[in-house]
Amino acid sequence: MAASNKSLTNEQEKELADIANKIVAEGKGVLAADEINATMDKRFGNIGVENTAENRRIYRELMISAADEERQLSDYISGVILHDETFHQSNDQQERLVNVLIKQGIYPGIKLDKGVVPLPGTDDEVTAQGLDELNGRCAEYKKHGAAFAKWRCVLKIGSSTPSHLAMEQNATVLARYASVCQQHGIVPIVEPEVLRDGDHDLEKNQQVTEQVLSYTYKALMDHHVYLEGTLLKPNMVTAGQSCSKKYTAEEISKATVTALQRTVPAAVPGIVFLSGGQTEEESTANLDAMNKLNVVKPWRLSFSFARALQASALKAWQGKPKNRQQAQKELLTRASANSQATQGNYFGNVITSASGADNFVSQHVY
Ligand code: 13P
Repeated sequence: MAASNKSLTNEQEKELADIANKIVAEGKGVLAADEINATMDKRFGNIGVENTAENRRIYRELMISAADEERQLSDYISGVILHDETFHQSNDQQERLVNVLIKQGIYPGIKLDKGVVPLPGTDDEVTAQGLDELNGRCAEYKKHGAAFAKWRCVLKIGSSTPSHLAMEQNATVLARYASVCQQHGIVPIVEPEVLRDGDHDLEKNQQVTEQVLSYTYKALMDHHVYLEGTLLKPNMVTAGQSCSKKYTAEEISKATVTALQRTVPAAVPGIVFLSGGQTEEESTANLDAMNKLNVVKPWRLSFSFARALQASALKAWQGKPKNRQQAQKELLTRASANSQATQGNYFGNVITSASGADNFVSQHVY
């Protein structure tokens, strides 16, 4: 039966549901490569590479065309989230990077939020901007190949946060974005990220994540968003970065899946986690533990990592053409490990250049 207040034709709904389901097809996940230039400044700064448009093009082209003797990116990756700059860039053969992805059967995605802005009067809380002109931007991106999009909102855990205002406002912004995307045949990835900053324990994060997701789905329903044609990109439920107590992958996976069971409708086809500054290995192990859990999980549990897919590749690359292949190999190795984790089949501590490195960035701006 059609949803009440149906805003899309059956054909539009089918197109959206097809894309969303293919993004979370068995063993597949998303590579997030849509960092803003300020973030790339830090990433490139760590390896001594100048942060120019050309260097960003070279680095991202390397990831998009990653392949070695046995493997190619599309074995594990179904979608890549691009920054507007990359969306318009081409490889050395003058082929648009978007088309390089489409040829491999990988969906190009686009970051649509325009970053966080303060919510005045709150305890340093924020919302995300970018709704103005969104209709026109979506029409253009769709015309030029975008199949899905991402919008990131940020919530902070503190003694008085997240406030009702922040949760309500961010949920509304996410719902409005999702609704506009769907009108243009773009699958919205809805990302309400609860930051890891703080010394709170696992239980506190679980409670806040449940609350944030409840606000989010209330708003998505209010805005008549077609849930079957969406994906959720949440934080994993972990303790705060400076919490003294350490939790096992099993504990993290149980807390995360419980929070999702309580708040995310079964109509949502997939949940693609952000890595949030965890190490590559922790991110993979936690995702694997969730998929090994023998409980009801009506959605696919997969990944949409940036740092936890790129850290080793970036370290191996160092901005040097001679390291290109090694960087591609490391990206494929992490992508393969995460692909196994989506099926609960990861059995290893797969060591790559930065697999154990802490990727945490305080008050992370994306
Ligand atoms: P991380 O995996 O580095 O947290 O980033 C994912 C992302 O896309 C944030 O918006």
